[in-house]
Amino acid sequence: MPISKTDFDYVSQLAHSEAAIVLEPGKEYLVETRLGPLALLEGFATLALYIDALRTQVKVNGMHAKAIDALTTNETLFFRDFHPFESLRRFIIPEIIEKRASLRRLTIWSAASSTGQEPYSIAMLLREHFPQLNNWNVSILATDLSPTVLKLAQVGEYSQLEVNRGLPASYLVKYFSKQADKWRLSDDVRKMVEFRPMNLIQSWPVMPPMDLVFIRNVMIYFDVESKRTILKKIRACLLPHGYLFLGSAETTTNLDPQFQPVTHGKAVVYRAALN
Ligand SMILES: C[S@@+](CC[C@H](N)C(=O)[O-])C[C@H]1O[C@@H](n2cnc3c(N)ncnc32)[C@H](O)[C@@H]1O
Repeated sequence: MPISKTDFDYVSQLAHSEAAIVLEPGKEYLVETRLGPLALLEGFATLALYIDALRTQVKVNGMHAKAIDALTTNETLFFRDFHPFESLRRFIIPEIIEKRASLRRLTIWSAASSTGQEPYSIAMLLREHFPQLNNWNVSILATDLSPTVLKLAQVGEYSQLEVNRGLPASYLVKYFSKQADKWRLSDDVRKMVEFRPMNLIQSWPVMPPMDLVFIRNVMIYFDVESKRTILKKIRACLLPHGYLFLGSAETTTNLDPQFQPVTHGKAVVYRAALN
């Protein structure tokens, strides 16, 4: 049975208050396909009964968090959009290596890292092209709201389909080994990334000063006020020479005038204006 308007409105309001995710009318199918199987798994005969339980239960038993987890869109791939990674390799990492040569510290954050392809792409790129960083203090922090994707990311095992998407064959051969029907990322690269849970719209822990922040294809789901708040908080932790990477359909224009677009090769990245 299709979801009722009252149930859809309740789920939209829950997704918005818990994760800033906007579910506009027309996204009923998304709620049905994502929460329907979860409802059955949780022992409810119908989606309506499950939503009824969500509506009446207190939010401390983890049921709401599971629903939010299921509502997230986790689509990702290795070296997504290609050009940002090319600009990283050709311009940005060499520039940062020069700027940070005295401290020999490089700190990168992949916010909303999903199943790990983004931070692992960064880690492999550093391994492959910047051996001089081997004796630097390199930290790649990867965060996401969803415990399900964080768990998968930490394991670092990918299907044939996943490694066929964006990963150069030479990287597959060099950094992965075949284990049954999965490709397992080498421990060496896996250990370069630290995964942590973090909801971008809740209060943030103290973040270390960042050279690079990747927050790609997540704010696209958020309302304008949440995007503004997040961009302001990112500015506060980005080092003066640092860069912000957004998804190809995202921009800071009309959201945060202090971020200026910079074109490096075929990629647009953002720098925060100095106050
Ligand atoms: C489409 S994926 C993007 C993955 C990767 N950044 C990329 O561009 O390929 C979006 C991710 O954002 C996460 N997400 C959604 N809302 C969030 C929130 N409020 N805080 C943190 N992560 C969130 C989802 O769990 C999902 O894994």
